[in-house]
Amino acid sequence: MISTYKALPDVDVLTTDFPVPGFGLVPINAFVLHGPEPILVDTGPVIESAEFLPALRGVIDPADLTWIWLTHTDFDHIGVLNQLLEENPQLKIITTFLSVGIMTLSSPLPLDRVHVVNPGEQMTLAGRTLNAIRPPTFDNPSTSGFYDEISRILVSSDCFGALLAAVPHNAMDLSEDELHDGQVFWATVDSPWVHNTDIARFERRLEAIRKMEPVMILSSHLPAAPGSLTERMLASLRAAPDSKPFSGLDQAGLEQVMAQMTGDDAGPA
Ligand SMILES: [Fe+2]
Ligand SMILES: [Fe+2]
Repeated sequence: MISTYKALPDVDVLTTDFPVPGFGLVPINAFVLHGPEPILVDTGPVIESAEFLPALRGVIDPADLTWIWLTHTDFDHIGVLNQLLEENPQLKIITTFLSVGIMTLSSPLPLDRVHVVNPGEQMTLAGRTLNAIRPPTFDNPSTSGFYDEISRILVSSDCFGALLAAVPHNAMDLSEDELHDGQVFWATVDSPWVHNTDIARFERRLEAIRKMEPVMILSSHLPAAPGSLTERMLASLRAAPDSKPFSGLDQAGLEQVMAQMTGDDAGPA
């Protein structure tokens, strides 16, 4: 179920929790950054498309949106992309060249409404200077977040996500262990390559985030996180390469979860 909360006076979070049986909840967030050129960051999960638009209408008239920043093309980010483009002919999409390419395989983006910004490039809007970044961890090569020099908000896409027992509206409300363990685990699930990365290079990516000194980190899969958590969040990512690789449930584990879901713990006859 999609609900909304304010992360900052000019930032609304549209959020839902996706249960991963046996592991916890993954928050799935989209963000409205209000201003002279309002931006919607990602467009919710496909499976909850019908709920997303009413929730969005509760925080902004979609006709007033100027931009969608599409961080990447995964199913938890592209939910109402097409509906919004149909509903608002002025709306344009900021995304990477690779996102445009991947979308051609399912639902091609209208190229005359795309503004390509690849990691390392900058885009200036009224009231915002967006520096596109490839976050330290990601699960899709089309990924791009951004750091807004004006507001000092960092949008990190899947990076800094966490599997959680419950999802508050502020990452400050998570215990130290919950945040750390949830983030380390998520990093191993979402970015399994993290175990095979050059540590010195990885640390340079973390240092680049540290130098931004963000006032807020908006991750697609974590409650909104004030900048005072940045050091702890970077420490979680630094721990990920040396942590246990994720392998998922085997068939017996899946059958056990199915039995629990149906209330039939006796197993197959
Ligand atoms: Fe993803
Ligand atoms: Fe995601």
